[in-house]
Amino acid sequence: MFSQETYINRRSRLQADIGGGIILLPGNDDSGMNYKDNIYPFRQDSCFLYFTGIDQPGLTFVMDIDNNREILFGDELTIEAIMWTGPVETIASLAAKVGIKDVRPTSALPDFLARARSSKQPVHFVPPYRGDTTVKLSEWLDIPVAAIPQQVSVALIKAIVRQRAIKTAEEVHEIEMAVNTTIDMQLKAMELAAAGVTEIAIAGGIQAVAIAGGGNISFPVILTVNGQILHNHPHNTPLQNGQLVLCDCGAENAMRYAGDLTRTHPVNKKFTTAQKEIYDIVHHAYQSAADAVKPGIRFKDVHLLACEKLAEGLIALGLMKGNAAEAVAAGAHTLFFPCGLGHMLGLDIHDMENLGEEYVGYTDTLHKSKEFGLKSLRLGRELEEGFVLTIEPGIYINPMLNDAWQAAGKHTAFINYEKLAAYKNFGGVRVEDNFLITADGGRKLGRPFASTANEIEQLIAR
Ligand code: GLY
Repeated sequence: MFSQETYINRRSRLQADIGGGIILLPGNDDSGMNYKDNIYPFRQDSCFLYFTGIDQPGLTFVMDIDNNREILFGDELTIEAIMWTGPVETIASLAAKVGIKDVRPTSALPDFLARARSSKQPVHFVPPYRGDTTVKLSEWLDIPVAAIPQQVSVALIKAIVRQRAIKTAEEVHEIEMAVNTTIDMQLKAMELAAAGVTEIAIAGGIQAVAIAGGGNISFPVILTVNGQILHNHPHNTPLQNGQLVLCDCGAENAMRYAGDLTRTHPVNKKFTTAQKEIYDIVHHAYQSAADAVKPGIRFKDVHLLACEKLAEGLIALGLMKGNAAEAVAAGAHTLFFPCGLGHMLGLDIHDMENLGEEYVGYTDTLHKSKEFGLKSLRLGRELEEGFVLTIEPGIYINPMLNDAWQAAGKHTAFINYEKLAAYKNFGGVRVEDNFLITADGGRKLGRPFASTANEIEQLIAR
């Protein structure tokens, strides 16, 4: 938990921004995996955590701006519950640590909200992403479940995004800790990778590193020899010499801040010529994007710059043809890079994504494109000092997509389908790091870590 002042300041700023009514922040509950008492690891709701710092299930926080009061609703564990769990810090004690003075039982919440509604106080809440929270909001606020999405508070969403998008020094410190544990995960993946080892043995090994780091994984590990599949989660393929291993993983630290890194390395410790050629193109696009980020530049333009670098490299290699800028304008490069360059990072791996990508990554004047490729770009807006984001270009050779495009005769002026046939089993390459936007550029987070093909080879040769 940060200092009391951090949470008090965050809440005062939010209340001033909203101006009146009630802000309702439901925390998460424990969630059963296969029966009620056999639970998933608890993960607090990130908005609740950001404004209260309390990482416990079963709580709801209310800021009654009109009446200048903050109330935490929740029930202390009974002696019978503590018999199973052991002593836990009381809700009252946790609340006091973060400057919340009023703690009431959960049973008092429905009446409290009913009274607020009968006094015509607006109740602001953000989009729920869990079924139990949706049902609670429906019951508390007398809104049909199906109508909840239309009743969310855009004012609250925008106010939260304004705050959470700009990371303070203490948050950057936490993210950097998560990034460093993520580097440990990547190192473990490189150590475990060998011909005959099945992907799951490596994925499990690196998950253990995240947990041993004091937190957990920040998203399900992507560890695959099928790197052409953007988020490939099945892990049942044994590694073979000559293949590339794409490892996209992240640790969440004890404070729940996330890291998110990708490295791609050869199973037998040496890139083939074809692998290195593609890797170098991806790394050049990555470095060009990393050099370009700074306050005021639109991330969409950084994305398009990276796309152009990828297209230039693919043209030089003969897999694409024509002019790179024209190819990107036509969308031909999306055969190889059908997704976005990056996303915000913070308490969530896709930070604040449930608040709505339009609000997090775009603005009232810059809307998300519906075009293939750009529609997967989660962040497009102008960058600001204090943003933390990922830069993660890739080249993916997906035979299914190639065949479909070739059959449809798509972008034949820019794609050399004949040459591409030889790369059918290539897989994919992605390089990803996490950056803080500083006053005049971007600072890569975490300790130094190999990212070029040569650096990767030197690292895994040891
Ligand atoms: N690195 C995983 C993701 O961006 O979804």
